[in-house]
Amino acid sequence: MEIEEIHITPWEAEAFVDYERLVKIFGAKPLTDREVDMLANVAGEVHVMIRRRVFYSHRDFDIFLEAYKSGRRCALYTGRGPSGHTHLGHILPWIFTKWLQDKLGLELFFQMTDDEKYWHSESGSLEEFNSLAYENILDLAALGLDPSKTHVIIDSEDISYLYPIAIKIAKKITYSTQKASFGFTDSTNIGMIYYPVLQMAVAFLPSELYRDQVMVLIPAGIDQDPYWRLTRDIAPSLNYPKPAQIHNKLLPGLGIGGKMSSSKPETAIYTTDPPDVAKQKIMKAFTGGQPTAQLQRKYGGNPDACPIYKMYEMLFEDDDKKLLDRYNACKTGNLLCGECKAELAERVAKFLINHQERRGKALNYVEKYLIRHKFDVPKVRNPNRNTK
Ligand code: TRP
Repeated sequence: MEIEEIHITPWEAEAFVDYERLVKIFGAKPLTDREVDMLANVAGEVHVMIRRRVFYSHRDFDIFLEAYKSGRRCALYTGRGPSGHTHLGHILPWIFTKWLQDKLGLELFFQMTDDEKYWHSESGSLEEFNSLAYENILDLAALGLDPSKTHVIIDSEDISYLYPIAIKIAKKITYSTQKASFGFTDSTNIGMIYYPVLQMAVAFLPSELYRDQVMVLIPAGIDQDPYWRLTRDIAPSLNYPKPAQIHNKLLPGLGIGGKMSSSKPETAIYTTDPPDVAKQKIMKAFTGGQPTAQLQRKYGGNPDACPIYKMYEMLFEDDDKKLLDRYNACKTGNLLCGECKAELAERVAKFLINHQERRGKALNYVEKYLIRHKFDVPKVRNPNRNTK
């Protein structure tokens, strides 16, 4: 179907896609000034990623904000498939999620899907994906997510939190729906076929833990959308509120086209990269510029198709005026790619030095993020059961 044409599934996605078309195909809504004003009203300000529409579409974000304002219990949910070290494309939504957590004082449920990555990968042991989950928690800590309000679920270890919910979800989903939603085939292993139920379960976990109808907002890339469409379809029949979503654009990789992805390490900047390595990657990056400086001066570059410009826009330039100046200087040929890259390389290196220092310190308190130290497992309860 059409969705495949533009190449978006949870396991494969391009970065320079026609986001307007994508919103329509997926049946989400573009983020408008109305929702932005509502957010400003409860948060006191608006994050740069919202202002620039890095987060650009949503489902029921308005309803979520209204519920929040009316004092109803709300929570955030996002996650990560720990297939490698964290790169800048991963932390982009986490930075915004942290901001939401701080401004709205919300708890965040964060799923680490070592099972998913093991089932999905051709090589790699479960033990490796599991230890990467712990590595990735260090990045959440380095970004400053509040350990008392951030609850990490590691699937292979914390399944008892999800299983009572997963049982109920699984009964609502047929094989043919599952196949059509995720593009599975007869040769897909059955781990992958079951997996979506576990990702959906976390959306209902806060309601179980608080024994309340908790409104959940999921900030994530639109590539995760098939899960939420199904989750929303079945929520009423299980007596849970439908989770709301807010979608971010994917950070492009440093190569030609494509999102920043662990499958192309030379085009991704990892939080664990030595700053000099990151600088080199940036200096070698593909850009929207002309092949020579002379041509660049004459014709100007194309920032709209440039991963370096997008890095400024999405992560490394908060000042709107400075960003616009850069855009114009590129278009008119006044700014050469070499200079633009070198400046970015400096900013990225500075970020990495800081992040890595905090990451190192986080080793001492990773445990504080684990859900198992903070909540009891939700139990399947029958009031008439004859045991306690
Ligand atoms: N499937 C996601 C991935 O591969 C991981 C994930 C689990 C997730 N739960 C989530 C992502 C909720 C966003 C929101 O990275």
